[in-house]
Amino acid sequence: NDLKNTAEQVAVEAAHLVRTAWVRMQSGGEVAVDTKSGETDVVTAVDRESEELVRARLKRIRPGEPVLGEEGGGAGNDAAGGVTWVVDPIDGTVNFLYGLPTFAVSIAAQVDGVSVAGAVVEPVSGRRWTAVRGGGSWLDGTRLSVSAADRLELALVGMGFAYGQDRRVRQGKLTADLIGRVRDIRRRGAASLDLCAVAAGWLDGYFEHGLHRWDWAAGALVAQEAGATVLLPGEAADLGEDATFAASPGIAAELRAALSAGGAAEV
Ligand code: IPD
Repeated sequence: NDLKNTAEQVAVEAAHLVRTAWVRMQSGGEVAVDTKSGETDVVTAVDRESEELVRARLKRIRPGEPVLGEEGGGAGNDAAGGVTWVVDPIDGTVNFLYGLPTFAVSIAAQVDGVSVAGAVVEPVSGRRWTAVRGGGSWLDGTRLSVSAADRLELALVGMGFAYGQDRRVRQGKLTADLIGRVRDIRRRGAASLDLCAVAAGWLDGYFEHGLHRWDWAAGALVAQEAGATVLLPGEAADLGEDATFAASPGIAAELRAALSAGGAAEV
């Protein structure tokens, strides 16, 4: 609970910073933008400011614990058996940049690569998603549980497209195959929020290739603790080595089989 409270408190503070910047941008304020792996993979000055704030607060509240952040790096510095903080200072940066309100600050505490507590906070709506391993997950203090979906053809499924043009095209083809087998598909543009949506029953399933640890670390725990079947990168060869999968248990096997048969492993 201490770790959850820290994650939540720091994410709320960073979300406030991000919201203030976003509101300023809505009235014409400019933001500096750089590119990362390619021209369409962007980072803004606000991503960096948010991460700096998170790092400074964690250093004060939890001194000495390593931080892995999307913008500042730190991979491979995990202390064996100790807590590592995994931070996405704005998950959904492209939404943020375009003015769409679907983005979040995501902070998880991991021990030996396993998330033990986490918070995902949405700056615009103020929603706070939190989880503790073995203790449950909550949206603004209300306990979460996944949907009761039990037929794939009636399922609403979220898909994500990580950076890398070839992979995006292959996942696009997989999505085209799936659309005829489900109720509908959503692409919301923030992996942490897709995973939280599965936890709340707003989506029945979610699938993406190529997520980074900071994209899933908090959201996957929120989904798991709400009862979702969750498979993380490296856990499901039939879906591909870097696949992230979350689904309500009633459709998990069917969705996994459909993705696997559709060639998910080759994405
Ligand atoms: C991205 C979002 C997006 C997902 C990408 C991620 P970022 O995170 O979560 O939904 O499809 O794979 O990289 O770059 O906005 O933190």
